[in-house]
Amino acid sequence: MDVNMDKLNAFMGKMVGDMGAAMNASLLLLGDKLGLYKALADKGPMNSMELAKATGTAERYIREWLATQAASGYIEYDAASGKFSMQPEQIMALADAESPVFLGAFGNVVAAAFLDEPKVSDAFKTGKGVGWNRRSECLFCGTARFFRTGYKHHLVQEWLPALDGVVEKLKRGARVADVGCGHGISTRLMAEAFPKSRFFGFDYHEGSIEAARKTAKEAGLGDRVSFDVHSAKTYPAQDYDLVCFFDCLHDMGDPVGAIKHVRETMASDGTCMLVEPFANDRLEDNLNPVGRVYYAASTMICTPASLDQEVGLALGAQAGEARLRDVARQGGLNRFRRAAETPFNLILEARA
Ligand SMILES: C[S@@+](CC[C@H](N)C(=O)[O-])C[C@H]1O[C@@H](n2cnc3c(N)ncnc32)[C@H](O)[C@@H]1O
Repeated sequence: MDVNMDKLNAFMGKMVGDMGAAMNASLLLLGDKLGLYKALADKGPMNSMELAKATGTAERYIREWLATQAASGYIEYDAASGKFSMQPEQIMALADAESPVFLGAFGNVVAAAFLDEPKVSDAFKTGKGVGWNRRSECLFCGTARFFRTGYKHHLVQEWLPALDGVVEKLKRGARVADVGCGHGISTRLMAEAFPKSRFFGFDYHEGSIEAARKTAKEAGLGDRVSFDVHSAKTYPAQDYDLVCFFDCLHDMGDPVGAIKHVRETMASDGTCMLVEPFANDRLEDNLNPVGRVYYAASTMICTPASLDQEVGLALGAQAGEARLRDVARQGGLNRFRRAAETPFNLILEARA
């Protein structure tokens, strides 16, 4: 083997960085869960004793956690004062759940990948799936909180206005189905923005529907919003003006069947909005940091979810526009276009 030492050193450097990121993922979860980033953002600069006191935690653990965060570049350390603090950009990404770039919930998603790894390892051998109902609890809340960032800052402001004539209908009073709604974060954001419209959230996972009902009740949305357990192929027809799929069409076993059901349950001039992970059409064009996160999530979460269901098409989280257009066409929605995009999402409009 002819080893180039420069290349080897560069690769080892990359791997050490990745090992640090992987090991720190559980500390990211801890920091979010115990309110450590939040306390540091609100009350910093602080030393380990002060942060431990502010968060009701044990100083020795906090000292170690702080050192890891500073080594990660997630927080700052001032050697002269022995205090730790956060820059505004670090606060936005890690401490402020309302910011447009909040990533603090991602630790839960990583935890779910590890907790469910034995099931996914088995599935690698059998080729069978791992359904959403067999996943660890932290996947559900982690997904909901992680996706909320994008929905809160783009859905009402950019994505819905990018669809042809949809906002006018929503303002007048429309019927909207949110299919595969999970905890119903997207449903709730739309319902709050368009008080004359009626929203129906559907998901085949009972626990998620229970959580969605609870938050809608807390938000005081009344009977304008309802959540029911239904698969993407069984929810009732209501002549919907808008049918949405937020980050879930690719998780479904039979996305073509799901689109056929949209065709049957949607008003003739209705719109189907597909919010999917951003992806280019060719593998070689997805070999970048965003593609890396999505291919990993796809391997551990989305592909096993789809393979657990009938047909098991397993589009994967990097399906890309061309593949999704094909699915929509096969389902009978022939007018198809990219309405909007962010670095993380494709927003696709499909109509009959
Ligand atoms: C990645 S989560 C997205 C949840 C939610 N839309 C969001 O954006 O937060 C995928 C969701 O699709 C749901 N799902 C998967 N297959 C489904 C099917 N065939 N019918 C209905 N829901 C399904 C799962 O239960 C899960 O809630």
